[in-house]
Amino acid sequence: MLTRRGMLKTFGGLIAVGLASSAYAVGIEPLLRLRTTTYRVVPPGWPEGQKLRIVALADIHACEPWMTARRIGDICRYANDLGGDIIVLLGDYISSMRAVWSQVLPEIWAAELSVLHAPLGVHAILGNHDWWDDLDAQAAGGGETVSHRVLREAGIAVYSNRAARIEATTGAFWLAGLEDQLALRPGRRWNRFGYVGLDDLPGTLAQVTDEAPILLMAHEPDIFPQVPSRVSLTLSGHTHGGQVRLFGYSPMVPSAYGNRFAYGHVIEEGRHLCVSGGLGCSIAPVRFGSPPEVMVVDLG
Ligand SMILES: [Fe+2]
Repeated sequence: MLTRRGMLKTFGGLIAVGLASSAYAVGIEPLLRLRTTTYRVVPPGWPEGQKLRIVALADIHACEPWMTARRIGDICRYANDLGGDIIVLLGDYISSMRAVWSQVLPEIWAAELSVLHAPLGVHAILGNHDWWDDLDAQAAGGGETVSHRVLREAGIAVYSNRAARIEATTGAFWLAGLEDQLALRPGRRWNRFGYVGLDDLPGTLAQVTDEAPILLMAHEPDIFPQVPSRVSLTLSGHTHGGQVRLFGYSPMVPSAYGNRFAYGHVIEEGRHLCVSGGLGCSIAPVRFGSPPEVMVVDLG
């Protein structure tokens, strides 16, 4: 039988574990941890022996104190040392979080990203937060955001429903990048009553003019069921692995498909998707079981 003293001890222990877990989830995992997650993928349509190492950074969400300019610079130098043939940035540079001391200005985070380098270059798409926090872009209902501009000015190729042919020594491939699928927020002042995507998958893939394999960058993985098998691999971010992930399950995932595309390497009907757990936080500065990561994909 549990004595009163034993009950108090158990209760106290549970509180201590709860406090320690919370401190870790707020103060350690999002701020201090960084890991590399590597996938070896040989998807159909990708020529065997056509080696390509992709290094992907997603969901930076620049803000003080959770993702400072200094931390972004450190992450970029870490990513440079991973031996990537190509570096891709998968969107959400801006933080919309309220629990911040201040935002890191776009010119500042873009300057940090400008140190990234790889033999086949650095290539970027935009995410929903890059659109949502840009009120001019919301009012215009399209065009480009501040993030598009500062990335371009930092010498980074920006893809907005565009495909480019890239010549590597091991073979050519197409890199396609979708504009964001949730770009425009609902709002009475903009006469919008739901989210509007600016993505154009058919228009993007129509730019592919030969048989070289295709890699697709799409911030939200929710487009994946519509991606044709002609695309060898889709690369996404956005979900942050749910930010809280236990035993391969994320209780909250910003996806209409729940855990189906929450994290990692997904294969459906022979089509391949790699979803990065990302680097920063959104909504709340919490990560537990989903540490900030740089995703590496080895193809061929
Ligand atoms: Fe996102």
